[in-house]
Amino acid sequence: MRNNQDWHPANVRAHRDLSATVREFEIRPEGGVKPWSVGSHLDVRVEVDGREETRSYSLVGVPGDDAYRIAVKRAQPSRGGSRFMWGLETGSELSIGEPNNHFELSFNAPQFLLVAGGIGITPIVGMAQMLAARGANVQMRYAVRSAAELVYGDRLRQTLGDRLKTFCSDAGERLDIAAEIAALAPRAQLLACGPITLLDALREAWATAGRPAADLRFETFGNSGRYVAQPFWVELPRHGLRLEVPAERSLLDVLNEAGVETLYDCQRGECGLCAVDVVSATGSIDHRDVFFSAHEKQSNQRLCACVSRVHGGGVVLDSAYRPD
Ligand code: FES
Repeated sequence: MRNNQDWHPANVRAHRDLSATVREFEIRPEGGVKPWSVGSHLDVRVEVDGREETRSYSLVGVPGDDAYRIAVKRAQPSRGGSRFMWGLETGSELSIGEPNNHFELSFNAPQFLLVAGGIGITPIVGMAQMLAARGANVQMRYAVRSAAELVYGDRLRQTLGDRLKTFCSDAGERLDIAAEIAALAPRAQLLACGPITLLDALREAWATAGRPAADLRFETFGNSGRYVAQPFWVELPRHGLRLEVPAERSLLDVLNEAGVETLYDCQRGECGLCAVDVVSATGSIDHRDVFFSAHEKQSNQRLCACVSRVHGGGVVLDSAYRPD
């Protein structure tokens, strides 16, 4: 069950490859672009093995065009969303929601540090443009596996000059998170998007440095876990069910398809609405959300069904839906 969402017809105006695995799409809604702000994402209906599902993509750049821009990484393994998106051609029709922002940029800090990991660059591009245009004190750090993955690198270099530093892990370059945080002015804001491992490290270093939690803002993408996604089982004794969750599907999808009504909203591991109670687990729970604290994740008492998975076994859930 999801909060009501209006879907609108749209088409692909153009697409281009930013790297071997990242493709940018310009999507023009038939009714025109709705007002949006930097940090927003756009829901897109995708067809996966004959089922309609929703994927959420950050809008790239700044408002002002008559099309939305998103960039989609071809996931391996794919839950099917990126496969669908990469199958679109110029002129292809699709259904989209309206831009929604859970990652808003405020301009009231003395300094900003933007941190992007991999495809987490997508919401950060517009933030860099917007902050630079306003003359804000902004620095950016962009970490990828190899130089070929530095999508939007040229645009960001033009925008930020030497305020942008990039880190390619295959060249032995490592982002020193603690040092970056230590160099920030009091009440500086850190805005980050990237894989869960990067965000967990940022959250821990931020707390260790004694900085206010509200000054760290972040967003993740739902396919970045500690383990490669693999199938796992789930048991629901209250419902008398045992289900299999395939590698390319989420626990949330499987629960809802089986009639175990589970609340959800963001499907990105951020809002916590889909959290379910864990009775026991066999194997390791791969928490892929940014909703629970490190301590809560360690206790393994709950998990976010939209993104989290189990590695090497399965999980027994108490109940998937509690109205209170
Ligand atoms: S739906 Fe938001 S965390 Fe799962």
